Amino acid sequence: MSATPYYPVVLDLHDRRCVVLGDTALAEEKALGLRATGAEVVHLRRPFQPGDFAGAYLAIDASDDPGGQRAARADADRERVLLNVADVTHQCDWIAPAMVKRGPLQIAISTSGESPFLARALRERLETMFGTEWGPFTTLMGGMRRRLRRAGISPDAQQRAYRHLLRSEATDLLRDGDESGAAGLALTIEQAAHDSGRTPMGEVVLAGAGPGDPDLVTLGTRAVLADADVVFHDALVGPEVLRLCGPRARLVDAGKRSGRRSTQQSDINEAMIVAARSGDLIVRLKGGDPFLFGRGGEEVDALQRAGIPVRVIPGVSAALAAPAAAGIPVTHRGVAASVAFVTGHRAGGDPTALDDLARSVDTLVVLMPAELDAISGRLAAVLGPDRPAAIVSRATTPDQQVVRAPIGSIAAVARAAGVQPPSTLVVGDVVDVLSEAASLPFVSRQALAGALATPR
Ligand SMILES: C[S@@+](CC[C@H](N)C(=O)[O-])C[C@H]1O[C@@H](n2cnc3c(N)ncnc32)[C@H](O)[C@@H]1O
Repeated sequence: MSATPYYPVVLDLHDRRCVVLGDTALAEEKALGLRATGAEVVHLRRPFQPGDFAGAYLAIDASDDPGGQRAARADADRERVLLNVADVTHQCDWIAPAMVKRGPLQIAISTSGESPFLARALRERLETMFGTEWGPFTTLMGGMRRRLRRAGISPDAQQRAYRHLLRSEATDLLRDGDESGAAGLALTIEQAAHDSGRTPMGEVVLAGAGPGDPDLVTLGTRAVLADADVVFHDALVGPEVLRLCGPRARLVDAGKRSGRRSTQQSDINEAMIVAARSGDLIVRLKGGDPFLFGRGGEEVDALQRAGIPVRVIPGVSAALAAPAAAGIPVTHRGVAASVAFVTGHRAGGDPTALDDLARSVDTLVVLMPAELDAISGRLAAVLGPDRPAAIVSRATTPDQQVVRAPIGSIAAVARAAGVQPPSTLVVGDVVDVLSEAASLPFVSRQALAGALATPR
């Protein structure tokens, strides 16, 4: 990794003499930007003359005149003025970053002059992430900070209050234009910081981690992961998604894997309750969507009974993502107008329920199909052995594998292909609606071919 000679600073230019050279639109823009800081701006629209930089603190040459730029460079060296020559990096003492400006909040992006295009592209991304509400939010934070410092509140209590405000609804309220609502919320948090004996109640957020690909983690889940104090995660949540947790977050594997000694549901609930009571932000990160075969409802119930504030952020469920990633639309005009999601466990317990369901819907998506022989045999008896079926394993990850076969032979074909959990079974005519090419974004065809070539 190569080092950069550029050191980022934010200059206070108030009342400083700044010279802008050039009769160009860029020069106008630069003069305007400098004036907004309260600088004393001298904008010279004529060609550069020696002495123009006398008494200046900073200068920008936006003249588009190579001869004048060379003279300006030499003069800046003599006068020891920090000069920026627009678009001529090797003539610059400093370069201007691309900026996202939200009132007092300024996010600067610099590529050390390597790629202004990249800096602009990243600015556009950040602009969508940080809306205009971040301006008043920064002011709100600043006011709170000044008052808490003045009141001599301990640094620890201050940090707690800032974190609390950051993860509160204040930015949502400001986005909706409710400035007084946000100010009231900030005041409540500030008052709690004055009461050193009282630990503010934490919160538990049940958040969906999606099926595996970090691109399928929602912005809401990303935000709480970045702020979390503790993240209790399922075994199914992979390292790529866990990497989205902030550096402060303590990770707890709360995985309940079938067939292994695993954490009891009641222990997980109890641990979350204790952590939330100590004022922490707890994220309960669950694969896919928390409320689809994830016992999310039970956890919310237990937390609510214990008086813990709890909210839910939905996730992209494997029930939809696995077929989609395999290029299988679960409904398709003229082919399938209804779809049901069912667990393979239930099929084992009450087979007639599965029979009834299979008869009454066009597409059946079976999660946790561990007993694939039993399930597919049952479905073949009800639907006929030729009904198209697919197993999608490790969907949306680099190890994604898709196996298609009629329901009567899908178990044998999946076994021969060495399909690994987690996997989802899809049954219905939709399986063959699109060509297999639709599944390509995630499927490694080489891996699939290799797996098919080496049956167990
Ligand atoms: C306990 S359920 C949890 C489902 C989760 N709440 C959801 O909405 O995706 C676990 C099952 O989800 C399915 N599953 C989860 N991730 C998957 C993936 N990446 N590919 C295929 N199936 C997956 C499998 O059927 C697995 O046995």
